[in-house]
Amino acid sequence: MSTTTNTVVLFKEDPGRGWVEEKHMEVTKQDFNADAVELKEGEVLLKIKYLSLDPYMRGRMQTKAKSYSAPFEIGKPLQAGGIGEVYRVGKGTTLKTGDLVLGFVEWAQWFVAAEKGLKKLEIFDGVPISYNLGVLGMPGITAYGGLMKIGEPKEGETVYVSGAAGAVGLLVGQLARLRGCRVVGSAGTDDKVKVLLEEAGYDAAFNYKTVKSLDAAFKEHCPKGIDIYFDNVGGEMLDVALTHMNVHSRIPVCGAISQYNASEQYGVKNLMQTVIKRIKIQGFLSTDLYGDQELVKNFTKDVVALVKEGKIVYKEHIVEGIENAPSAFVGLLKGANTGKQIIKVA
Ligand SMILES: NC(=O)c1ccc[n+]([C@@H]2O[C@H](COP(=O)([O-])OP(=O)(O)OC[C@H]3O[C@@H](n4cnc5c(N)ncnc54)[C@H](OP(=O)(O)O)[C@@H]3O)[C@@H](O)[C@H]2O)c1
Repeated sequence: MSTTTNTVVLFKEDPGRGWVEEKHMEVTKQDFNADAVELKEGEVLLKIKYLSLDPYMRGRMQTKAKSYSAPFEIGKPLQAGGIGEVYRVGKGTTLKTGDLVLGFVEWAQWFVAAEKGLKKLEIFDGVPISYNLGVLGMPGITAYGGLMKIGEPKEGETVYVSGAAGAVGLLVGQLARLRGCRVVGSAGTDDKVKVLLEEAGYDAAFNYKTVKSLDAAFKEHCPKGIDIYFDNVGGEMLDVALTHMNVHSRIPVCGAISQYNASEQYGVKNLMQTVIKRIKIQGFLSTDLYGDQELVKNFTKDVVALVKEGKIVYKEHIVEGIENAPSAFVGLLKGANTGKQIIKVA
């Protein structure tokens, strides 16, 4: 089999501080022959099957801002975590044609990768391979590590999760519930709230866009205060949540998606609460969590078993076709997804 084109999505324009639009990305078709492309020693040619779209990519589109990962380059392909099938191998590789691997790839149909950066996938019966980009992958360890290591949940505590119907939040709530906590979540549509209550086992949930006020929502849904606030959104939500935190409560700061497209950053006013209530607030990155061997071992053991036994409900928002990746990314930032945003490439 050979192919004559490779559809590749390029980073076209820095969106600055406002909303990302499809025009900031460009879908191109490049000449390509899978049977003839040159492979150097240690390289393999991947036929991309799935791509993961994640909110951190918004930060990589700000070419002038300093962040924890390098910005995308204008005119170059966008990059993402992905799953590919090995189509051809270069000299000195141990992977074989047909192997399924996880790695850092481009928003493309085909990608030449160095074998050393790839991980061969373990296949579990009844578990979709795309889960390796979600509950069993980066969002999964983010949820697990942030909750267990920083949140330190104890039986009977109230855990509040914002962005609760997303890739990370869906898992956080379920893990906390399995630890015997009372779990409360918020999301941006009534359908998402329904998923939290009826499928993901949240004890209470609210639509943050339609409640009378965030303060009233916390009074109603967290009457005993909050012991752990797993913060996915930052901004006003964090500010108001601070006023409902209990003494010696913890806030694992996972992200601040409400601020990623905001032209002006929200100024949090209630930080004095951290002193009054002795609150621990700690940011963290999945890349650091991957460096904690013990945590990775426990995550793999615990979460794989929970998923295999059906004790964790996980959702994916799968968009088909690499050419639809730009609109899916715009949608992700506006709340179009329930669960993990995936692009099915092939
Ligand atoms: N620290 C780390 O290493 C790490 C790793 C992974 C993710 N994260 C962070 O974790 C958070 C969740 O990531 P994810 O992968 O699970 O994404 P996700 O929840 O699957 O997708 C993003 C969701 O954010 C919500 N959202 C968008 N604008 C919002 C706003 N103004 N206020 C409140 N919610 C808003 C939308 O849902 P609604 O319909 O509910 O608005 C949207 O569906 C993000 O902040 C991300 O940057 C951090």
